[in-house]
Amino acid sequence: MNITKHLRATTYPDILLKDIVESAINLNSAESGFLLLCDEDGNLRYKVAGGEGTTILEDRFVKRGEGFSGWVLDTGQPLRINDVRGDSRYSPEMDRIRDRATRSVLCVPLVHEQRVIGVIELLNKKGDGFTDDDERILVSLADQAAIAIAQNNLYEEQKRDMIHITEILVNAQDSHIPDKKGHVRRVAKYANLIGKKMGLTEKELKTLYHASLLHDVGFLSINVHEEKKEPWEKERFIQHPQLGYEMIKPISRWHDAATIVLNHHERYDGKGYPSGKRGKEIPLGARILFVAEVFDVLTSKHSYKDTLSFEMAIAEIEANSGSQFDPEVVNAFKEAIRETDIE
Ligand SMILES: [Fe+2]
Repeated sequence: MNITKHLRATTYPDILLKDIVESAINLNSAESGFLLLCDEDGNLRYKVAGGEGTTILEDRFVKRGEGFSGWVLDTGQPLRINDVRGDSRYSPEMDRIRDRATRSVLCVPLVHEQRVIGVIELLNKKGDGFTDDDERILVSLADQAAIAIAQNNLYEEQKRDMIHITEILVNAQDSHIPDKKGHVRRVAKYANLIGKKMGLTEKELKTLYHASLLHDVGFLSINVHEEKKEPWEKERFIQHPQLGYEMIKPISRWHDAATIVLNHHERYDGKGYPSGKRGKEIPLGARILFVAEVFDVLTSKHSYKDTLSFEMAIAEIEANSGSQFDPEVVNAFKEAIRETDIE
């Protein structure tokens, strides 16, 4: 039960697989053990090895039906043999690769949603052969391990999906306002430098990073090209923090980032928008994002204004410290920007 609990809490795939093999070896007093997972072609790939003489199996794969593990993959049944000599599935070739002689084997499938997703294979029980109990224990460990692996895969998949969705939204922002192409990425870089300087945690930095990449997403629902023509459009323009907030807030992983987006035009002196929050009422991430954003707007090329040099932009931000910007953030920004070679 302890092992199961531990497996469920493990979020890094490599560590999870290693832990499964180590647990299997220890529970059953085996000499060595392997975990193989199915690849896209339906073969088994060696993922991790534990115990003795098991370091040279990387990149090897086993075809369905081949050897002990291939048989388990094919049948979905556990396999227990205490004298492998004479068994047709025994491969002297594998013994040569592992540089040791196989005597006994206990091999069970990892099953998820009625599909074999991999195999745990233990070799050479220390002392006597593998018992009924060993088999039962390994089968039940494999059940839990399969759940943990499937959960982990899902988690990894979600992470990858989020990266792609962010990418889509970043590109959409870039093409919606071609004048500001690259803006959100640069802002993310500056915000990260300031955040690090101010000692934000890894989690806070990640939230700030996402907020930076998505801070202008509200513009996607505004006709930015009409903006300079009509006064009512201008009003709509300043709604972009609120619009962006509403767009990304429903995504649970972006909830904290959404709050930063909402507040990224609040001024330290309370004269910002949308709610006129002041000082520390404004979330720190938003105070950082505001400085990062303005710095980029001042220093990058736009068709409608002149570009300031970095030194002039820093002076401009300093001049607004305490009114527009949080002085602590401005100080961190100055230090961070001077220490970094930004071009
Ligand atoms: Fe903005």
